[in-house]
Amino acid sequence: MSNENHFGFRAVDPREKQGLVNEVFSSVANRYDLMNDLMSGGLHRVWKDILVATVNPPKGGRPFAHLDLAGGTGDVAFRVAKAGGPDTKITVADINAEMLAVGRERAEKLGHDDNIEFVEGNAEKLPFADKSYDCATIAFGIRNVPQIDLALKEAYRVLKFGGRFLCLEFSSVDVPGLDRLYDLYSFNVIPQVGRAVTGDAESYRYLVESIRKFPKPTVFAEMIRKAGFGRVSYEKLTGGVVALHSGWKL
Ligand SMILES: C[S@@+](CC[C@H](N)C(=O)[O-])C[C@H]1O[C@@H](n2cnc3c(N)ncnc32)[C@H](O)[C@@H]1O
Repeated sequence: MSNENHFGFRAVDPREKQGLVNEVFSSVANRYDLMNDLMSGGLHRVWKDILVATVNPPKGGRPFAHLDLAGGTGDVAFRVAKAGGPDTKITVADINAEMLAVGRERAEKLGHDDNIEFVEGNAEKLPFADKSYDCATIAFGIRNVPQIDLALKEAYRVLKFGGRFLCLEFSSVDVPGLDRLYDLYSFNVIPQVGRAVTGDAESYRYLVESIRKFPKPTVFAEMIRKAGFGRVSYEKLTGGVVALHSGWKL
């Protein structure tokens, strides 16, 4: 099961989905980081910190090639750079030029011009050689990719043997009471905040709907296995609001 034929709750031709997704992120790119803080009350920072603590890049002089897929404005990349050593090199790949432009600007300000590169590319068909990365992450990106199976296979292809794939994504809340509260907040508050901050409620309605259409953690774990990964596991964070999936190229 995948959400490739849905744009949020709306059934669309899978070929149409990417264009619609791109419009969303082009529209919100300049306010994307601010909106993340407002929507999650800063929690996205905690989730990304947990992701990067799991990546655990080497501190010493060992080279470490990291790929952050659908990396947008560079949030995960900056954390990996901070956690890693001098030989940690990070590639941010994203399909959206506007999101990448914000990322490049931030990288320049933070002095990351030499250890982080920003590359425009589709996660379904990556412009990278086989076996080039030690770790590949994707944070809040996979549900936007029309053909998830292809993106997982590509992540597998570009990883070295012994490399790890980590995916942080919104999931399904399964704590009684919290689920209703979460629904109320998501469908009512988020699009309104989106309208106030970016002037675009529709994009944020899409984001909420796409979260609900995303496969359950067990189903997604199976998709990761199918792409070739071994020792697949996941952990739920914040009552299942988010799940962190892991798989190894063995
Ligand atoms: C919700 S943002 C996440 C950005 C960043 N990872 C973060 O956590 O802040 C989703 C990103 O997925 C990107 N995206 C959507 N479809 C993609 C695709 N097929 N290939 C690569 N990136 C894609 C969007 O352009 C957007 O930057």
